Amino acid sequence: MRVGVLTGGGDCPGLNAVIRGVVRKGVQEYGYDFVGFRDGWRGPLEGDTVRLDIPAVRGILPRGGTILGSSRTNPLKQENGIRRIKDNLAKEEVDALVAIGGEDTLGVAARLSDEYGVHVVGVPKTIDNDLSATDYTFGFDTAVNIATEAIDRLHTTAESHMRVLVVEVMGRHAGWIALHSGLAGGANAILIPEQRFDVDQVCAWVTSRFKASYAPIVVVAEGAMPKDGDMVLKDGSLDSFGHVRLSGVGEWLAKEIERRTGKEARTTVLGHVQRGGTPSAFDRWLATRFGLHAIDCVRDGDFGKMVALRGTDIVRVPLSEATAKLKTVDLKLYQEVGVFFG
Ligand code: F6P
Repeated sequence: MRVGVLTGGGDCPGLNAVIRGVVRKGVQEYGYDFVGFRDGWRGPLEGDTVRLDIPAVRGILPRGGTILGSSRTNPLKQENGIRRIKDNLAKEEVDALVAIGGEDTLGVAARLSDEYGVHVVGVPKTIDNDLSATDYTFGFDTAVNIATEAIDRLHTTAESHMRVLVVEVMGRHAGWIALHSGLAGGANAILIPEQRFDVDQVCAWVTSRFKASYAPIVVVAEGAMPKDGDMVLKDGSLDSFGHVRLSGVGEWLAKEIERRTGKEARTTVLGHVQRGGTPSAFDRWLATRFGLHAIDCVRDGDFGKMVALRGTDIVRVPLSEATAKLKTVDLKLYQEVGVFFG
């Protein structure tokens, strides 16, 4: 059995742990051969491969990024994309493919499996934790830890200057990183894409915090939108997902807070820092377990499936289910943390 492995979409702490789990179990227990495809679907599309064996995965467990490289190439949008992929898989004598990725990568995997009979097993990844078929995705815990540490640090500088500090975290469609890091970091307001925010309400929270002689921290997800200023945030261009690009809700909000409260405000945009560097212990644990179960799917010939976490169990779900629904923050959960605002 020869197995291909690829990582697609945005990079995410824990990708290397999955690759290591897949390859080590596959070689040591099942005697399989592996080939790595470079840069997500671009690899099988162009026949761009890399050696993938036990020495290649040695020492990669704590490393961020992905040794295979990643891209957002979508073969379904390329001329003869499917045929080129099938030809290159045949040329490499690949019997099965492990595709590690988010919504877009797994969406392609689902179609290749369901419509074109390619033997694919999917492994979910995203720091956003917004895939509905799994309780958690690896990368999320690391991103939350990084954001929480940043918020802790920003508290002390905010207090020293008695300023408002607005922290913009990732999360275009779902506010999980904002919610978890904001709660863990003791933010005074958490703004998420799932609910439009009222700038006057945010200013009221900020003011009440100053009255209690504390400097406020506002955590805002990059996809959060104000009730009364959304047009200001759209510059009309499209991002790599084909979505309308948002231009800096954090910057915009800090300016509005200054204007409406007269208090000095600054913004910190955490950006790709949240995706870089070594994965947390939890993410290594989850990613490794995903890898071990993915290669078991290959052994069982159980294709068209994605591994997922349910409680503490790793289960298999149809790939088509993996991308069917975005997992957004439950507003009841959001209201629960609202007690700390202000
Ligand atoms: O999906 C992961 C993610 O990091 C999102 O949180 C963020 O909106 C997006 O990717 C950024 O994408 P890019 O790295 O292409 O700018």
